[in-house]
Amino acid sequence: MEVVPLAGAEEIGRVAADVIESVVRRRPEAVLGLATGSTPLPTYRELVRRHRAGEGPSYRRVRCFNLDEYVGLPDGHPESYRATIARELTDDLGIEPGRVAGPDPSPAGLADAGERYEAALEAVGGVDVQLLGIGSDGHLAFNEPGSSLGSLTRIKTLTEQTRQDNARFFGSLEEVPHHVLTQGLATILRARHLVLLASGAGKAEALAAAVEGPVSASCPASVLQHHPHVTVLVDDAAGARLDRLDHYREVYDAKPAWQGL
Ligand code: F6R
Repeated sequence: MEVVPLAGAEEIGRVAADVIESVVRRRPEAVLGLATGSTPLPTYRELVRRHRAGEGPSYRRVRCFNLDEYVGLPDGHPESYRATIARELTDDLGIEPGRVAGPDPSPAGLADAGERYEAALEAVGGVDVQLLGIGSDGHLAFNEPGSSLGSLTRIKTLTEQTRQDNARFFGSLEEVPHHVLTQGLATILRARHLVLLASGAGKAEALAAAVEGPVSASCPASVLQHHPHVTVLVDDAAGARLDRLDHYREVYDAKPAWQGL
């Protein structure tokens, strides 16, 4: 796991955008794994800015897979993750809606929605680079504390804390769904490169547990310690509880330029 201490959310956005662009330049048909929530927004804005300025690669051939989706929102709800990703990123990058997949929350198909999503991921050969955020309770995608470290895509129930955290996107807490479809922890570990973004003091405790604590279902994001290629982009506030922060900084400062992230 490589922890990269950065100055703030905007710098995290720039470095994450560099990672995504370099994957797409190397492999124009890359499969991108996308997260929602506030944390990736600076990355998405930066990718869109560069694309509009004609600096970015072409995204015409990429495919995108969303990490998760709410269950129970009306079709086309603006806070559905399908709508959010289209609005915040993929429409502006010129990626056809048919090339952006998410777990299917339609009521009739819920029982096998997880299996169908796993099959779709397998059919494209898996995710090249997966962006991730972390919940203040240590959740990864919507795998809440207690989730199996071997889990695959399935329906889950949000904790009260996550519903409160996400109420800012809705009119009220009551409007936040209780259920979600989420990639499992084992699904996430299949992606070839995982990029965890963490900004703000609200993430400091969960991030320290994920990076330096024991691997445990009590902190689902700690499962990342099992993956061979994880990059953690963290700002000062989110990194404040890391015991080895100075060492991560030294490692990054001394990193050979040829190595990349
Ligand atoms: C979103 C997701 C969640 C968020 C997490 C942090 O697709 O899977 O795990 O990454 O809840 O959300 P923000 O970034 O809003 O703090």
